[in-house]
Amino acid sequence: MRTFSPILALRALWQLRVRKRPIVLSHGINARCNMHCEFCEYWKEETEEMETEEVLKLLDEARSFGIRYYNAWTVEPLLRDELPQIMAHAHSLGMITSMITNGKLLKQRVHDLNDVDYLSVSVDGIDAYKEIRGMDPEVVFEGIRAAVNVCTNPILMNCVISGQNLDDIDPLIHKAQELGVWISFEPLNELEGIGNEIWNRIKVKDIDKYENIINLIITRKKTGYPIINSLTYLKMVRDRNMDFNCRASDIILNITPNGNIENCRIKTEKLGHISDGLENVWNRSAKKRKKISQECNGCLFFGYVEGSLLYDLKPEVMAHYEWI
Ligand SMILES: C[S@@+](CC[C@H](N)C(=O)[O-])C[C@H]1O[C@@H](n2cnc3c(N)ncnc32)[C@H](O)[C@@H]1O
Ligand code: SF4
Repeated sequence: MRTFSPILALRALWQLRVRKRPIVLSHGINARCNMHCEFCEYWKEETEEMETEEVLKLLDEARSFGIRYYNAWTVEPLLRDELPQIMAHAHSLGMITSMITNGKLLKQRVHDLNDVDYLSVSVDGIDAYKEIRGMDPEVVFEGIRAAVNVCTNPILMNCVISGQNLDDIDPLIHKAQELGVWISFEPLNELEGIGNEIWNRIKVKDIDKYENIINLIITRKKTGYPIINSLTYLKMVRDRNMDFNCRASDIILNITPNGNIENCRIKTEKLGHISDGLENVWNRSAKKRKKISQECNGCLFFGYVEGSLLYDLKPEVMAHYEWI
């Protein structure tokens, strides 16, 4: 699916390895959610939302700093009315744009996606979807069908694997193929804000079954199903192996809805605020970011792991990780 561009790759290497600056701005474009998923803690945070003018200024500054990718994600981007204006602005600066959505409003807002290059929709099951997300899965599948008709680039479904959806994994892979989209997997992460009662109910308990399911994903990947993850990453997920050199905070600059700059989605230590200036916060926080990464036990969010493995030029990941 990926069309390898040597120019983009060289630019990324220059920015990351020579200038030692991030290439992605990952932004909490709004502060509310229209779902209350049990395994998620973002919808519980009550913060202010940046004014649109501030977001446009942030994009200008990010681009001058050498950042070339803008990702709109938390809390639910399709709830932000000015989404098309913000994405169009990022495009006008020559940035590549992406968005991660729960898909509830996808059908309704599909014509607001003209400037979204890479769309990712969270779909954690078919039979288990309603229990996990509280909505009929057909709503999100209809949204994806509508998006397939208007989006020129590939679309991704992202599935968080938990104890609730192990039986849905293979049907979801087939569903992705039927819809003409790609699929990614990552395991549930035990976020601190989730109570023990919920965690004990939804976590994977049957480890043999879990490992067999991940082996099946690996087999499906090898036989050409549209799975974006690298084999290296899928094996790490199967073995719950978080032993990698984390580069998340070297690659991605995380901005919360109220403009705080944080290390990453797990280590949410505040590095500064956008009003302090991106370059200033970046330079000032170098030691702190390094310390946080070195002391972290790791995570298995695919964006962080695959990005870190790419940063370290791991050949299998360079050959088989298929997203952007
Ligand atoms: C926080 S959501 C924000 C975007 C949008 N509201 C959505 O649901 O896609 C981004 C991604 O994080 C995932 N996520 C949320 N909580 C998680 C957890 N505890 N472990 C792993 N992934 C999680 C969601 O499933 C989703 O794919
Ligand atoms: S839809 Fe996304 S942000 Fe909202 S509660 Fe669910 S995972 Fe969290």
